[in-house]
Amino acid sequence: MHSQRRSDTPMAAYQVNPDRSTKPVGIKKICCIGAGYVGGPTSAVIASKNPDIQVTVVDYNRERIEAWQTDDLPIYEPGLLEVVKFARDGNLTKRTPNLFFSTDVDRCIAEAELILLSVNTPTKSLGRGAGHASELSYLESAVRKIGEVAESNKIIVEKSTVPCRAADTLRDVLVATAKPGLHFEILSNPEFLAEGTAIRNLLNPDRILIGSLKTPRGLEAAQALAAVYGAWVDPDRIITINLYSSELAKLAANALLAQRISSVNALSAMCESVGADIDEVSYAIGLDKRIGSRMLKASVGFGGSCFRKDILSLAYIAESLHLFEVADYWRSIVDINEYQKDRFTRRIVRCLYNSLSGKTLAVFGFAYKKDTGDTRETAAITVIDNVLTEGANVRIYDPLVKETQIRHELKNTTARLDCAEKQLTVCESAYEACTGADAVIILTEWDEFSNQGEPVRRDSGHGRKTEERAGRKVDWARVAALMRRPMFVFDGRNIVDAGALEGLGFRVECIGKA
Ligand SMILES: NC(=O)c1ccc[n+]([C@@H]2O[C@H](COP(=O)([O-])OP(=O)(O)OC[C@H]3O[C@@H](n4cnc5c(N)ncnc54)[C@H](O)[C@@H]3O)[C@@H](O)[C@H]2O)c1
Repeated sequence: MHSQRRSDTPMAAYQVNPDRSTKPVGIKKICCIGAGYVGGPTSAVIASKNPDIQVTVVDYNRERIEAWQTDDLPIYEPGLLEVVKFARDGNLTKRTPNLFFSTDVDRCIAEAELILLSVNTPTKSLGRGAGHASELSYLESAVRKIGEVAESNKIIVEKSTVPCRAADTLRDVLVATAKPGLHFEILSNPEFLAEGTAIRNLLNPDRILIGSLKTPRGLEAAQALAAVYGAWVDPDRIITINLYSSELAKLAANALLAQRISSVNALSAMCESVGADIDEVSYAIGLDKRIGSRMLKASVGFGGSCFRKDILSLAYIAESLHLFEVADYWRSIVDINEYQKDRFTRRIVRCLYNSLSGKTLAVFGFAYKKDTGDTRETAAITVIDNVLTEGANVRIYDPLVKETQIRHELKNTTARLDCAEKQLTVCESAYEACTGADAVIILTEWDEFSNQGEPVRRDSGHGRKTEERAGRKVDWARVAALMRRPMFVFDGRNIVDAGALEGLGFRVECIGKA
């Protein structure tokens, strides 16, 4: 046994004074490029915890930037508005404002010592790798801009999720575009927040991962970033590792999280055939400490902007390394997800006597999960597309997502066709959606759709009518009174007490239950 630490072994990043008085070395101005789901909340928390650092979030999207300057923020996250107001509106809180939002990208880049890259990295839609590889053009253009306008050395932080060795690409672009003599140190600091709980995750992260080159300048840059987080994160949770391990760890984390969901969803198909109950199976396996209970909830399928694209990116990387079996393994997680959405739709059609033509389906929820207004890759897109193709009339209600956004998401599906457009109605309430409906399809696990548990609470800050509806739950007896007979509930999230709904006359179909 030897206790000597290898030089590349992950370690707590740095030591802070017990009184937390350590000041970030040299960092007085941070610029975050990208005012989205990651850039906005992350910058708001950094600013709120580091009153001496000026944090400016920049984006070319003027509408988004203007919304960040109001109380109707462009994204909804529980607790986000309070953190933003605290750091942004110093006049209200007697605190000097240190959080700013701007479209003046050049000026903010030029002034900052540390730049957070939080731009989108979607799946490529054109050319080589289309449908699989990550699109790095947004990152590249942000970095070109840095090279163009920088007059001083900068630390550049990959917060976006990137393929392995993206840092090398960014360095290459900087070397080619920047003024001679300037130094740019690239760090990987992937973001692990989950939408819907972003503020909680940012305030109390499981870990902060900082990947750097193991050169003196790389380690110094990692220390400077660690000190920013050190204002509120325990030093033991700030981990410094190799730059490329950090890039890969983010893709791997998302792949493993999605893999748990696809595993449970694959089991749910078996449950329906053998008379088992997936909630009981998940509970039983989750009690094993080696497995743990989280991310074992069966559903209609995962959505969101990250899981699918990050798994496809990981598989593409494996394939480009000629690791074809590895690529197939990761891709099968996405395949099961598609299968689950399709299987759910087939069940709806089967239960409704093999025809949806002329029938009306009320869809409860369009967001990809509760407590967010994000609809990217939501399972609702596929399910709604499928039932429209079968001829159903679809009446959608989501507490947060606006009609324009729903129609935008559906524009590349059957709904783009004139006939399907007429089949689609976006409703203002669950009751409006249910009027004359043959079935309710629950696609988002919003608390208000469940007939069990506590009343709903939601803070303000985005979307329509959030305050006036807070505390309300769907009255299922009222729903029953509005629907045609026989009436069905297809619970794609397993959030209802099926027995209670059956007592009201519903036929209830849940995921993973016969
Ligand atoms: N959304 C999540 O839950 C989450 C969690 C962890 C990691 N990530 C990763 O973080 C990154 C950002 O994700 P997001 O959900 O915040 O994306 P987003 O689409 O919400 O925001 C990205 C923003 O970047 C802006 N942008 C793009 N290129 C720009 C440029 N050159 N200059 C200025 N602004 C530019 C866009 O206008 C957009 O507003 C992605 O790589 C994603 O995979 C996302």
